[in-house]
Amino acid sequence: MRICLIGFGAVGQGVVKAISLKKRDIKNKFNMDLKVVGVSDSSGSAINPGGLDEDLLLDIKSKTSKVSNYPKYGNSAIQGIGLLDNIDYDCLIEATPTNIETGEPAKSLTLKAFKDKKDVVTSNKGHLALFYNEIINKSKENNVKFKFEASVGGAMPIINFSKKTLASSKIESIIGILNGTTNFILSRMTSEGSSYKNTLEESQVLGIAETDPSQDVEGIDAACKTVILANSILGIDCVYDDIEIKGISNITSEAIELAKKEGYLIKLIAEVSKDNLKVAPRLVKKNSPYAVEGTLNMATLKTDLADDVTVIGKGAGSLETASAILTDLINIGKLKN
Ligand SMILES: NC(=O)c1ccc[n+]([C@@H]2O[C@H](COP(=O)([O-])OP(=O)(O)OC[C@H]3O[C@@H](n4cnc5c(N)ncnc54)[C@H](OP(=O)(O)O)[C@@H]3O)[C@@H](O)[C@H]2O)c1
Repeated sequence: MRICLIGFGAVGQGVVKAISLKKRDIKNKFNMDLKVVGVSDSSGSAINPGGLDEDLLLDIKSKTSKVSNYPKYGNSAIQGIGLLDNIDYDCLIEATPTNIETGEPAKSLTLKAFKDKKDVVTSNKGHLALFYNEIINKSKENNVKFKFEASVGGAMPIINFSKKTLASSKIESIIGILNGTTNFILSRMTSEGSSYKNTLEESQVLGIAETDPSQDVEGIDAACKTVILANSILGIDCVYDDIEIKGISNITSEAIELAKKEGYLIKLIAEVSKDNLKVAPRLVKKNSPYAVEGTLNMATLKTDLADDVTVIGKGAGSLETASAILTDLINIGKLKN
């Protein structure tokens, strides 16, 4: 399978590293050859139809921050969507930044790949939160595969798990913690008794919260994931504006202390059901499945046959997120073999 990768940051580099680590196993187990033929970041690209060396790609990016410095095959004139017209490939892996205003560049990249009859795997959520149905319909019209397991909960299995492992059950609702940064902040405020402001600053120093933390702390990131789960698992036709959102920036250490005394924790909870599409801080019981700590994500799926099923996993991280992308690639490859 010839792979074109657009977006070579934490996730894109994780994908290349995971391919380097796993390609022999994947060949042995699934008889699939994974070959990275094109990579683009915002500076340009590296293109080789014969395959780029994964370790060299990572080395060049870490030393020079530009993939276009790749020896012989680097190209500073071709970037982003331009790469798709300059390389023959089978699957696009799209890992550009999430944009909740326009969904770009992810939306254009994805639709262009579909039009060219290419499969797409993404970790991005912005375009899905804004245009879920349009994008899914275009993938069907063009008869290509489109997978996005990594867009919700990073390595936490939820979309493929719901569709395949829980195929016999109807999933009635999903209630969970879908943002690792806010879970880290609330967990630290609970264990240390520290203020929201100090804990946010600590999270920024540790690299867990972004310099501009608003997407996480205002509940925007969790709301995007709520849209994706609602559409893909519960079949609820909704977009980002349909989600009721409240973040954690007004949570005080006093409120957390009071909850603690009564046997509760405060968590940023996403609820996905036909009656409720909502992200908000809520009280959860101390020893319940919702009491996960640190940057972990979790979700309880309420089903008709299997009753409650809870999944927990790393919601972010370079290799962790890449693991979900690689699984999507393998599943696409299996369908083609
Ligand atoms: N990080 C995680 O753990 C995680 C987990 C799940 C999902 N996600 C999602 O995965 C996506 C990627 O996340 P990330 O953490 O890897 O982001 P990131 O570190 O900011 O990397 C984004 C990459 O996209 C490149 N880029 C930006 N605009 C571009 C354009 N127009 N054309 C080509 N490349 C472009 C950037 O180029 P430069 O390198 O030149 O700046 C960078 O390489 C996001 O949508 C995010 O929400 C991330």
